[in-house]
Amino acid sequence: MEYTKLLKDLTLLSGVSGNEKPVRKFMENELKDISDNMLKDNLGSVAFEFKGTSCSPNILVVGHLDEIGFMVHSVSSKGLIKFTNLGGWDPRTLMSSPVEIINREGEKIIGLIGSVPVHHLKDTSGKLSIDDMYIDIGAESPEEVREIFKIRKGDFIVPVPHYALIEKKNIMISKAFDDRVGIAIAIATGKHFKDKNHPNTIFCAGSVQEEVGTRGAQTISQLIKPDIAIVLEGSPGDDFPTNKEEMQAKMNAGVQIRMIDPTMICNPDLVNFAIDVAEELKIPYQLAVRKSGGTDAGKIHVSGLGVPTIVLAAPVRYAHSHNGMLSLKDFQATLDLTIALIERMNSDFFLELIK
Ligand code: CO
Repeated sequence: MEYTKLLKDLTLLSGVSGNEKPVRKFMENELKDISDNMLKDNLGSVAFEFKGTSCSPNILVVGHLDEIGFMVHSVSSKGLIKFTNLGGWDPRTLMSSPVEIINREGEKIIGLIGSVPVHHLKDTSGKLSIDDMYIDIGAESPEEVREIFKIRKGDFIVPVPHYALIEKKNIMISKAFDDRVGIAIAIATGKHFKDKNHPNTIFCAGSVQEEVGTRGAQTISQLIKPDIAIVLEGSPGDDFPTNKEEMQAKMNAGVQIRMIDPTMICNPDLVNFAIDVAEELKIPYQLAVRKSGGTDAGKIHVSGLGVPTIVLAAPVRYAHSHNGMLSLKDFQATLDLTIALIERMNSDFFLELIK
């Protein structure tokens, strides 16, 4: 697939919430020279403008730059590193996982996540929480942690990826598909429209700090003042054997068009439009009614006077853990629908949406 390398490169970057610079720099390298304008908010979100034949509507196409990670909390008398989470992790997935602590000199220190023995757990049922865990970097004292490894409180910690491609099925294994999928689509969308005529102004963007409360979404919507927004996600897959009837995100079933989650009701006309376009172009799609979770769309759609917004996603199995699985077919469907929607938008379309 054309975008295999782009996705691979993006997932291997370290960009936990609050420390997204490597991902932003990557996006700049891809889009700065081919866009008409680069805009930044003061938190680190970035947007690239692609002018069309009309200055309105402003269409924001946005993924989030950040991934979930951790931060150094404290160091024990034995030189073990206690940590706190940035974003939502499933603690069951953490034991024995390799992580990298980025020290103040930018050096990456490898370590393994360990835990107190099971009979010493705080929860007597044996349930493990992040408070029971530590990172073992091989140090034997706080002095070694400080002097040899140059690690201090507040250093960011990123998961170590295990990249692989299951070529027989076109399925990629890596970390941070949530939301490097969105960033890859924002980049590919910019490249698609760079030499094309379209009656809109497109902003392909990456927001910061989505995983800790959609904070960059707030500032980037003030920066762009979008008329319409397309929010792109790697959405948790739920296509497991027990759950067939209630499934909302099945791998290999195409782009997920989200109707609702606790942070937003998607604009129904925009949803119907997306369904019609997907059917017209035979792009595989699936609908999702989400009872939990939320995205940048939650903040973006209530910015200004309100922004008709839609969330498109590729399902990611085992999201919010060290490794996920993504079908490249779902990625392609999400990209195809994003481009097709923008190609069919113009100012009349926008005025119809807000009628
Ligand atoms: Co996400």
